[in-house]
Amino acid sequence: MADAQVTRKLSNGAEIPVVGLGVWQVPDGPECERAVAAALETGYRLIDTAQAYGNESSVGRAIRSSGIPREEIFLTTKFYPGKRDARVEAEKSLERLGTDYVDLYLIHWPQGGPTWAWPGMEAASEAGLTRGIGISNFGATELQELLKVSQIPPAVNQILFSPFDYRRSLVEACEDAGVVAQAYSPLGTGRHLDDPAVERIASATGRTPAQVLIRWAVQKGLSVIPKSTHKTRIEENFAVFDFELDEDAVSALDALDTTNQTPDALSRSQKWWS
Ligand code: A2P
Repeated sequence: MADAQVTRKLSNGAEIPVVGLGVWQVPDGPECERAVAAALETGYRLIDTAQAYGNESSVGRAIRSSGIPREEIFLTTKFYPGKRDARVEAEKSLERLGTDYVDLYLIHWPQGGPTWAWPGMEAASEAGLTRGIGISNFGATELQELLKVSQIPPAVNQILFSPFDYRRSLVEACEDAGVVAQAYSPLGTGRHLDDPAVERIASATGRTPAQVLIRWAVQKGLSVIPKSTHKTRIEENFAVFDFELDEDAVSALDALDTTNQTPDALSRSQKWWS
């Protein structure tokens, strides 16, 4: 279990667990609470929610009733950029989460441009509402624009990432800037699990397709937040630290890329905010 708490060091000095639970598309209520409780029981110490998910209250309840000290859990939420003031919205998040701080607060997507919300993010950080601040769905150009004006640099860029969405030059741009890249939808929201190449590698490795996809992202140096509401799958997705994909398996997975290793966080058609 200790092995499973592999972490990556962030630019603010904090350690972010490599595998966490994402709760995108999990409705507020018992299903969300059960998923977070199951993850914490399994040993997860990173839980990722967002204002836009509408389930911060359930996440907060599950964390509080777990009995695990708050400081042992790395909690992420995200600023919904349809609102104006990231600091004000952080306070509301903390109320819903029932906690004094989050460990990481991300701009959910660069709606309206990559820089306007950052002063509010920095204000949230300076007020102690969050330990770290970062971004999500930012491409390399947007990251560079933000770095030019930020007083506190972003610690994390959370991006759509899987072998099929292998944004290698974006990951490199993050690494060059000291920003930890984090993969969301590592299973392609489930779509990649029955891909024949993934299935073949899984059976050759003696692991499940989900474990292969998560392990691939871990070996690429990312933190990864698979979503599941099923305890057995939550356990399965966490059991990725006792095996390694060999070079052939990694190359075969790399070859599934459909993005031409773009530096963009999303393709044009996926930019739901513009
Ligand atoms: P469920 O929540 O019903 O378990 P992603 O993390 O890429 O967004 O993928 C999430 C999707 O993949 C969800 O539909 C989730 O379903 C499913 N899923 C997550 N883990 C597994 C697993 N180990 N095996 C099969 N399906 C999984």
